[in-house]
Amino acid sequence: MDINGSVAVVTGASGGLGREFVRQLLDRGAAKVYAGARREVDWDDARVVPLLLDVTDEEQVRAAVDVASDVTLLVNNAGATGPRSLLEAPMDEIRATFETNVFGPLALVRGFAPALAKAGGGAVLDVHSVLSWLATPGAYSPSKAAFWGLTNSVRLELAGQGTQVLGAHLGYTDTPMTAALDVAKGDPADVVARILDDLAAGEDESQADETARTVRAALSTLTTGRFTS
Ligand SMILES: NC(=O)c1ccc[n+]([C@@H]2O[C@H](COP(=O)([O-])OP(=O)(O)OC[C@H]3O[C@@H](n4cnc5c(N)ncnc54)[C@H](OP(=O)(O)O)[C@@H]3O)[C@@H](O)[C@H]2O)c1
Repeated sequence: MDINGSVAVVTGASGGLGREFVRQLLDRGAAKVYAGARREVDWDDARVVPLLLDVTDEEQVRAAVDVASDVTLLVNNAGATGPRSLLEAPMDEIRATFETNVFGPLALVRGFAPALAKAGGGAVLDVHSVLSWLATPGAYSPSKAAFWGLTNSVRLELAGQGTQVLGAHLGYTDTPMTAALDVAKGDPADVVARILDDLAAGEDESQADETARTVRAALSTLTTGRFTS
């Protein structure tokens, strides 16, 4: 994937990693970035085209696909943490987490696949988590596990049209999503830089920080999703 001259769509662009994706894609020479967000953001750069985009809203997804027909890179970054109990939370909240973290990204891949093919292949970048590999209580980790599986299957289906599909895994990173957590967190700028390096290198997977590399290396020892270092 040549980021220089690319036309990107970034979902969840109002968030911590989303803003960083927009900024670093432009720094690396992206010609245009469609910044998908549920709310208004002041971008202050003529190369950014704001896009009203709730990834669970079929009409907004359709409109985004129509507007961003020159896309060469789709960044499925939007994500939600969801409820913390699979047993006690209302099913609607659990379904909503999967709508945001799994079915929304799939709708965008399906929508943009023809435009990517027309552009010669391009790329899809899906933002997973180390919790795609490790289980925690609640809806988030199973939704990220499903998203990881979806990415791997979509990669096979898009191979014929030459679309690179990169899955990115990361641990705690300092963004609004983790603001309430009193834990060590990585710098979003470092994480995004590593992911974009891996994208440019043509990789299928980005282990974007030390946590991701450690957990990935220990995967063969995990039988129940529990991790002990
Ligand atoms: N931070 C971490 O430690 C960490 C670790 C592993 C993976 N991740 C993943 O990294 C990605 C970015 O998260 P972040 O850390 O940057 O968190 P964040 O600052 O909370 O950003 C999340 C973004 O997703 C957007 N979003 C949520 N639901 C959406 C929907 N239905 N439609 C469109 N946008 C929606 C949010 O929009 P609003 O601003 O409108 O709420 C926000 O822009 C997520 O996929 C997350 O799961 C984060």
